Amino acid sequence: MPPKTPIKLGMVAGARPNFMKIAPLMAAFIGDSDFESILIHTGQHYDQNMSESFFRDLRIPEPRYRLEVGSGSHAQQTAEIMKRIEPVLISEQMAGVVVVGDVNSTIAAALVAVKMGIAVIHAEAGLRSFDRTMPEEINRLVVDSISDLLLVTEESGRVNLLKEGREPGSIVLVGNLMVDSLRHNLKEALEADTLERLGIGTERFALVTLHRPANVDDDAKLKEILAAVEEISEDLPLYWPVHPRTRAKINGLGLNSRIHLLDPLGYRDFLHLQAKAAVILTDSGGIQEESTVLGTQCLTLRDNTERPVTIESGTNRLAGTSKSSILDAWRQTRDTPKAGVIPPMWDGQAGQRCHAAIRAFFGLPSGSV
Ligand code: UD1
Repeated sequence: MPPKTPIKLGMVAGARPNFMKIAPLMAAFIGDSDFESILIHTGQHYDQNMSESFFRDLRIPEPRYRLEVGSGSHAQQTAEIMKRIEPVLISEQMAGVVVVGDVNSTIAAALVAVKMGIAVIHAEAGLRSFDRTMPEEINRLVVDSISDLLLVTEESGRVNLLKEGREPGSIVLVGNLMVDSLRHNLKEALEADTLERLGIGTERFALVTLHRPANVDDDAKLKEILAAVEEISEDLPLYWPVHPRTRAKINGLGLNSRIHLLDPLGYRDFLHLQAKAAVILTDSGGIQEESTVLGTQCLTLRDNTERPVTIESGTNRLAGTSKSSILDAWRQTRDTPKAGVIPPMWDGQAGQRCHAAIRAFFGLPSGSV
C-alpha cells in the first residue's frame, strides 16, 4: 500500500496572547503521523519581547512561514495578513486551519481559509463580552460564525454558541490551552530569580498591565485609571510591564516612584510575578484566567468580561474604569480576598482534548496515535 498522505493543518499565531495557546496545540500533534502541522506566524507582534522570547520560553518550533505583517490600522493589518496567508494556504493545500483567540490574525486567517473551502477550527470559541465596541468582540463573532469546529474553554462559550444557533455537534468543551502552558511552565518560572532581578525583593506588591485601546487611547479614562493606581501605590508598590501601545501614552507623565514601569516581560518572569503578586490590576483577557488558576486576586479594569467563569468561580472581580470603582474593588479585595475555584478542565490537558476533537472532526479514530 502506498504511504498515507498526512492531513495538512495550518496553525496560526500572530500576537503575544496566541503563543501560549499555540504551544500546547503544536505539542499535542507531535508523533501523530495522520497530520502534518504547519506553523504560520503572521508577525502581528514582532518585537523581541512580544514575540521571539515566547517562542523560546514556550519551546515553540520555528514557524514554517513568517508573514511579517507588522503594525497598522485594523483594516491594514487584517488585509495584509489575508493577502500574505492566501498563497501559503494555496501552495500547502491545507485541509484545515486552526486559529486561536480573538486577535486580528485570528479573523484574517479564518476569513481566507473559509473562502477557500478549508475547514476552520477555532480554539477559544464562544467567549462574548457583548460589547461590540471591542475589536476583539467583532473578531470573536465573525470567526465563530465561519468556523466548522468550535473548541471552547468554559461552559459560557457553549451556551453563547448554542444561542447563536450553532450545531451542538460542532462545539466541544476542551478546557483552556493557556492553562496548559501555565501548568507546564510554572515550576521553572517559580525557580527563576525574577523578584531579585527586577529589584522587587520580598515586599508585597501589585502587578499592573494595561493595553486596551478603550482604556489607554482615551485620555480621560487613562487619567482615572492612573489616579486609582497612584492611590493604591500608597498601600503597596506596583510593578507594571508596559505594553508598547501604552508606553507612548504614559511616557513623561511623571508617575510616583512606587509605580515601577518595566519593559514587557518574558513568559516565565511574568508568570512568576502573577503567582507572587498580592493583586493584579489588568485589562487583559488571558490574565483574568491565569490569575484564577494561580489563586491570585485580580481586578479587571473593564466594565465587562468575556470570561465570566473567572468572576463566578475564580479570583477575578470587575473593577470598572473609574477611579472610585477601582478603589472600591481594591478595598474589597484587600479586606475580603476571593477564595476561588479552578474551572472544570483547566487542568493542563486541553491540548490533548483539542487533538482528540480535531481527529474526530476529520473522521479519525481516537487513540490510534
Ligand atoms: C493585540 C490584540 C489584543 C491583545 C493584544 C496583546 C487585536 C485587535 N488586538 O492588541 O486583543 O490583547 O494584542 O498584546 O488583534 N507594537 C510594537 N511591537 C510589537 C507589537 C505592537 O511596538 O511587537 C505596537 C505598535 O505601535 C502597534 C501597537 O503596539 O501599532 C498595537 O499593536 P497591535 O497588534 O495592533 O494591537 P495590540 O494593542 O497589541
